[in-house]
Amino acid sequence: MARSPLTAHHPAHALHLVLHDVRHVYDDDGVAVEALRGISLEIGRGEFVAVLGQSGSGKSTLLHVMGAMDRPVSGSVMLAGRDLTQLDEEARTAVRRREIGFVFQFFNLLPTLDLLENVMLPALLAGANTGEARARALELLKSVGLAALAGRRASGLSGGERQRGAIARALVNEAPLILADEPTGNLDRHAGGEIVRLLRSLPAARGTTVVLATHSPQVAEAADRLITLEDGRIASDRPTGAREDTTAREETTRDRGPA
Ligand SMILES: Nc1ncnc2c1ncn2[C@@H]1O[C@H](COP(=O)(O)OP(=O)(O)OP(=O)(O)O)[C@@H](O)[C@H]1O
Ligand SMILES: [Mg+2]
Repeated sequence: MARSPLTAHHPAHALHLVLHDVRHVYDDDGVAVEALRGISLEIGRGEFVAVLGQSGSGKSTLLHVMGAMDRPVSGSVMLAGRDLTQLDEEARTAVRRREIGFVFQFFNLLPTLDLLENVMLPALLAGANTGEARARALELLKSVGLAALAGRRASGLSGGERQRGAIARALVNEAPLILADEPTGNLDRHAGGEIVRLLRSLPAARGTTVVLATHSPQVAEAADRLITLEDGRIASDRPTGAREDTTAREETTRDRGPA
């Protein structure tokens, strides 16, 4: 099967993300809140990992640390061989723009821009010219089934359409790592299922590594691997067995192709 032109030029580190003894503490008006209490883990390139845990267990904090949005108070966060905690702000911004796609609820599409402009924006910020950004954005909107809505303002899209748009936006810079924080929150089962299938298809289609935080065990079971957080610590880390039975499904989905 022909692979997407967006694939295949990522450096071939087998390990994509390696965290060693990561601790993070928030200051809540002088009270220390220990959000991460010594997290060590290794994630391979092209893995689809779900992080499951109750509210307050540290899922979002973990994704923020992985995405160079927060600097942990101690420990190391190696992304493709570099320790994000040691980079200066300029280098961290470049990593966020070029190497990571974010699908976060609080980082929604800009309501006054149309869908196409929203998806183009990270490409423009990363220095692509307008024609190139537009072409890539249109291709991605097709692949998430939203080409017909490219000119619609984001404020006029449904929740599921926005989340699919956010995934297209997260992919526009061919980011090798996608971090998705509760991407199915506030969606009904059908729309949520579509988002999960879309994320699920990325590792095989593009070699993308996906880390998904959720409090839903059903959503988490779609991943290859399930890391459960409890009170800022890893309580368990196990394969789900989803990888084998999804490969066949992905082939079928991709054969059908975008609308
Ligand atoms: N900005 C902040 N200031 C103070 N404490 C914070 C801050 N952000 C998170 N926390 C605390 O850190 C802990 C971990 O929070 P985090 O947001 O990572 O949890 P979560 O697993 O993502 O929860 P949820 O499922 O509700 O999104 C919680 O105790 C939370 O109250
Ligand atoms: Mg959270």
